[in-house]
Amino acid sequence: MWYDNTMKQHELTTENVLPRLPEPLLAWYRENARDLPWRRTRDPYRIWVSEIMLQQTRVAAVLGYYARFLEAFPSVEALAAAPEDRLMKLWEGLGYYSRARNLQKAARLVAERGSFPDTYEGLLALPGIGDYTASAIASAAFGRREAAVDGNVLRAVARITDCHDDILDPKVKKAVRDQVQAVMPEDGESIRIFNQAAMELGATVCVPNGPPRCGDCPARDFCQGRIRGTAETLPVKKPKKARRAEEKTVFLFLRDGKTALRKRPAAGLLAGLWEFPNVEGTLTEATAPSAVASWGLELKAWKNRLTARHIFTHVEWHMTGYTLEVAGEGPEDFVWADAEGLKEYAVPSAFARYYAEAMEQLGMRS
Ligand code: ADE
Repeated sequence: MWYDNTMKQHELTTENVLPRLPEPLLAWYRENARDLPWRRTRDPYRIWVSEIMLQQTRVAAVLGYYARFLEAFPSVEALAAAPEDRLMKLWEGLGYYSRARNLQKAARLVAERGSFPDTYEGLLALPGIGDYTASAIASAAFGRREAAVDGNVLRAVARITDCHDDILDPKVKKAVRDQVQAVMPEDGESIRIFNQAAMELGATVCVPNGPPRCGDCPARDFCQGRIRGTAETLPVKKPKKARRAEEKTVFLFLRDGKTALRKRPAAGLLAGLWEFPNVEGTLTEATAPSAVASWGLELKAWKNRLTARHIFTHVEWHMTGYTLEVAGEGPEDFVWADAEGLKEYAVPSAFARYYAEAMEQLGMRS
């Protein structure tokens, strides 16, 4: 699929432009690449740590952390054996802390098996490694011909091919990966740097949030976005769907200095955590009593009404809560906890307002 040198501008289309990219891209990269520490090594451990740190984090923010981390844990065995406090301290400020925990889990698996997996599939099976990261490590450390397509590469490819599809759509991402995979070079040394080069182009020339620096771009002669004047409007990202709002009524039942909790289902949102009993929809002072009765509780007194909101990734809860004095046991899945006991249950922060109210109400009694 190498481009034909005699091809004229007007014969270039969205479909056939990408094969022209690798040669000038690699030449440009050799001259212009930033000198970054993970580009000077083939050690899979060092490349892996860099790729995990670089997820959702800018190069400038990573550099200091990267140096300190490798000094503290110079090998995968050292990381596998690291005390958690030390690990988290070295990650402090970098954010997305599950990355550090997954890094150590993966390090333990690698230390146990004695070496890094050296294929895309093997790497993908490790905690914290997704499609992009597996490809980036497989190519840079092991010379595997695997296209690593991150946001930088998606943007550059969408512009070069004048693609107006929504790049947040997984089907579009997959199609772009297939296109890039098809034009990746074949020789080992080029494979090792091709993904870095494509990323570098997106990060430093075909930049987001502003006009691309087309004058400096190795793809300027054939980039369909530049030639057709669409580059600045690309890529297309469809706004994410608005979060769904769910109305809920939360009950803070008080009885003998205790409040009722129940365990959430084992699957789904906040799985297995504890909550105050609640029902779908917004009940009023007129309709709440029948819900209370349906749990077999006797309503003794109204104490408070509190509203709260909690925002999750895909849904937001709009909650109305009633603090009620009741008599009775309630259903079997209710547990009753006093202020001290309540501290033992993992109640998610979605219920923070009601948790604070429970503590205050129960505390007042003791
Ligand atoms: N972002 C993600 N991976 C990167 C890398 N290897 N170099 C620079 N930026 C990156």
